Order: sequence, then structure tokens, then C-alpha cells
Amino acid sequence: MSRWAFVDDFTITGESKLMTVTRQQWHSRTAFIMAAVGSAVGLGNVWRFPYVAYSSGGGAFLIPYFVALFTAGIPMLILEMGLGQRMQRGAPLAFGGVRKRLQWFGWWAAGLSAAIVIYYTTILAWAWVYLWHSVGLSWGDKPEAFFFETVLRRTSGPGEIGGLVPALVLGIGLTWLTIYLILRKGVRSVSNVVMITVPLPMVLLTVLLIRGLTLPGAMDGIRYYLTPDFSKLTDLKIWLKAYGQIFFSLSLASGVMIGYGSYLGKKAEITNSALITGLANCGTSFFAGFVVFSMLGYLAQVQGLPVPDVTTSGTGLAFVAFPTAISQLPALNAVFGVIFFLTLLTLGIDSAFALQEAFTTGFHDKWHIPPEKLARYFCLVAFPASLIFVTGGGFYWFDIVDKWICDFGLVISGLAQCLAVGFLYPVRDFRDYLNGQSEVRLGPWWIWMLRYVTPGVLLVILVGNLMQEITVGYEGYPRWATLIGGWGSVLFWVVLGYWLWKRPATVELD
Ligand code: PFF
Repeated sequence: MSRWAFVDDFTITGESKLMTVTRQQWHSRTAFIMAAVGSAVGLGNVWRFPYVAYSSGGGAFLIPYFVALFTAGIPMLILEMGLGQRMQRGAPLAFGGVRKRLQWFGWWAAGLSAAIVIYYTTILAWAWVYLWHSVGLSWGDKPEAFFFETVLRRTSGPGEIGGLVPALVLGIGLTWLTIYLILRKGVRSVSNVVMITVPLPMVLLTVLLIRGLTLPGAMDGIRYYLTPDFSKLTDLKIWLKAYGQIFFSLSLASGVMIGYGSYLGKKAEITNSALITGLANCGTSFFAGFVVFSMLGYLAQVQGLPVPDVTTSGTGLAFVAFPTAISQLPALNAVFGVIFFLTLLTLGIDSAFALQEAFTTGFHDKWHIPPEKLARYFCLVAFPASLIFVTGGGFYWFDIVDKWICDFGLVISGLAQCLAVGFLYPVRDFRDYLNGQSEVRLGPWWIWMLRYVTPGVLLVILVGNLMQEITVGYEGYPRWATLIGGWGSVLFWVVLGYWLWKRPATVELD
């Protein structure tokens, strides 16, 4: 007998001639937690957290970080997983179940996840190309020029698109093919794949850590990473950074956790699973900091520079600083290069397919389109759409879209989500429901967080981001570019979401 404890068929109900659908389910609680951890643990843990921590008070940053985890991260994770599980639907129809009109909002929020996966695959394309180049350490002694000129073929600005970069097209094509193959059987294949893609990067990170810690200078790097600077804690910005990092890192507000929660059985435990997911994710970030800073400490020593001078985040860390450190290793450079880029690929791929699933699950819920078709259609549309990011001007568009989706889209979505569930949904009843089947009891604090604390923080972040955008703009990009790429990528889903909301369902919506 199949070990899959699900049925994925449907029945035609007598009067309405609409289908009622039985959903696929995770084959175990472990599979669900693994998938949730896989979606949360991504590139953000390795290339963003260590730098944010270092530049925001080192060891002292852990205080706002854990405060943010417990006052916003975990409460929202519980909300998202719980809502999906209770409604047995992904974000669009789960919100539609709160209030009919909110289905529109649900489509918009899920649309953000579609937008993220379309540009997130670009980073995986870079990682594929670097995996290839690791073998011969092709970046030589000019890793920065290699990244921007040889690999990206970066033009002078977003107005100059340049041509498609063939190696990156191949990389992004490979990424979409992988996503298609993983998602075509729906949660069935995801349950299996995450058993590899979640532990493997942990093992690889451990290998890199051992290498890093045994290098001279490693301890200088770690000291920079962790030396607490408590004076920074009085700075509001540091607190907002902590919330922003938690938010992105736990993949909140994009419908991902709602979608994944919806594949749980009706009796499934939620609260403790959310707690485990949140702690596993933050633990991985903290751990990754040791890997990154031991290597940077070594690099600083080899180059005779202070640690801050070799320290960057984001693309600069993964595709410039790390390759430099890898070239400087005393032995087995290519092996460690391959390990590092394989780590990035395995970290990113499960975040990518979680994002796609968050969007496509709405189509399954509303029109009962089978997983294989959804995976195929989505990849066939998203692959060409993502090609813009692998042109010569693609890097700029990537940067703009990422900034707007994260700083505006996800923040607005999180805010609306907390308010919708906090005030429009019988939230006390929801809490009782979760307590009825959870290993950890939720007190009234949970409702307080959802109603006031999290939306309050998100509102401050949103206003701050808006003011910054209005007064200074972003990275000197021309307004037309941020208008099209930035606001366009956020608002596009409002229109598409409206259209999808208005299409009649072929599945009975209860
Ligand atoms: N949490 C992922 C990371 O830290 O890299 C990125 C991410 C995935 C963000 C899914 C948002 C999301 F919806």
C-alpha cells in the first residue's frame, strides 16, 4: 500500500454540480516541519543575517532579534500555519473564508510569492554558473570584476537592457526545470525532496564551518560578529531591522506558510510546529554567522585588512567575498568552492518551490487544476518572465523588484493579514481551536501580538520605508525605473488578483 495517506480525488455534489475536493496531505509531521524549515531557511540566513547582526550590535543584536521572533515571527507563523490548516485552503481561499472580499487580498499576497520566485531564481542561476566556475576557480584574483563583468555582463543602468547572458539563461532554465520536477506531483514529491534539501545544506555548512574555524584569523572574524555593543539597542532602527530580518527569514506574509499549513490534516498540531520552525530557522542563521565570519576573519588576515573592510552582505558576500576567501584557502580550493555554491543552491531551491506552491495552490483550491498542470503552466509563464533578470541590465531590475516586494509588498501584506485575522475573524475562537489540538497552549498574549504589536511595528517600518523612498529614492535609480519595476511589481498583483477573485470557481467553496 502506498505510504501516502491522502486521496486526491473529488466528487460531484448533487445540486450545485460543483466539485468538493479532498486535499493532498504531508505524509508525516516531520515532512511538514522539514518543508516549513526548508522554505524559511534560505539565502537570507547565510548572506543577510550575519551581516545585519554584525552591523547592528553584534552579540547584542540577538536581544532585539529574539524579541522580534517571539512578538512577531512566531505569532504570525502560528496564524499562517493555523489558518491554512483550519481552512484547508491556500492563501486566496483561506482569506476568502475570513471575508468574501478578502479573497482578492489573498490572491494579491500569493501573487507576491509568485513575484519573489520569479526573481529568486536569478540568484540560483548565478549559483549554478559559479558552481561550474568553482572547478577552475575562474574568478582568479579579480572576483568583483568577474562577477559583474564576466558573469552578469552588467550594463550601465536599468535603461540599458543589453542582451541575454547565455550561461545565466542556462542556469535559470535549469532552476525552473528542477522546480517543475519537484512540484509536478504536488506535496507528494515535496515531502520526499525536503528530506534531502533541508539536511544537506546543514551538513555542507558544517563542513565549511570546520574549515573556517581551523584557519588563522578565524577568531578575529567571530569576535567581530559577536562582540556585543549594547549602546546600539537604544537605536530604534536596530529594532526595526530585527523585525525586518525575522519577517523575511520566516517567509511570512507571502502565503507560503498558509499554503503549507493547508496540507496538514484536520487534527494536526500547529503551535509547537511553528515554534520548532522558528527556532530551527533562527538557529541556522546564528550558525551560518560562524561560517561566514570565520572565513572573513581569515580573508582579512591574508589581505592584511581589518575585518570590516572585507565584510559585506547579499550578493557581495556570496559572489565576491566568499570566492576571494576560497581562492586564498591553503588547499582543496575547488572542493570548497563547489561545497559553498552547492550550499547556496540547496538552501535556495526549497524556498523557491515553496513560493511557487503558495501561488499555485490557490488555483488548485478554486478550479481543481492538478499539480502537474499547475507546475507546468506556471513554469512556462514564469521562465520567460524571469529572463529579464538574466540580461545585462537584469541585476538592476532584480535589485529594484526585490526592494519593493520586500519593503512594501510583504510589509503591507503582513499588516493587512494581522488586522484581518485580529479583527475580522473570531480570533478567540481560533485560539481555542488551536489550543484544542496543540502541544503548547496559546495565552491571550497571542491575540495582543496579532492585533497591536505586530501591526504597530509593521506600520512604523512601512512609514519609514515610504518616507525614505519619497525623500531619497533608492540607490540613485531613475524614478521611471522604480515606478515600473518597483511599484509595478507590487501593484500588478492587485489587478491580477481582482481578476482571479472574480472568476467563478469550479470547486464548491464552503
Ligand atoms: N526565507 C527565505 C530566506 O531567508 O532566504 C526567503 C523567502 C522565502 C522570503 C519565501 C519570503 C518568502 F515568502
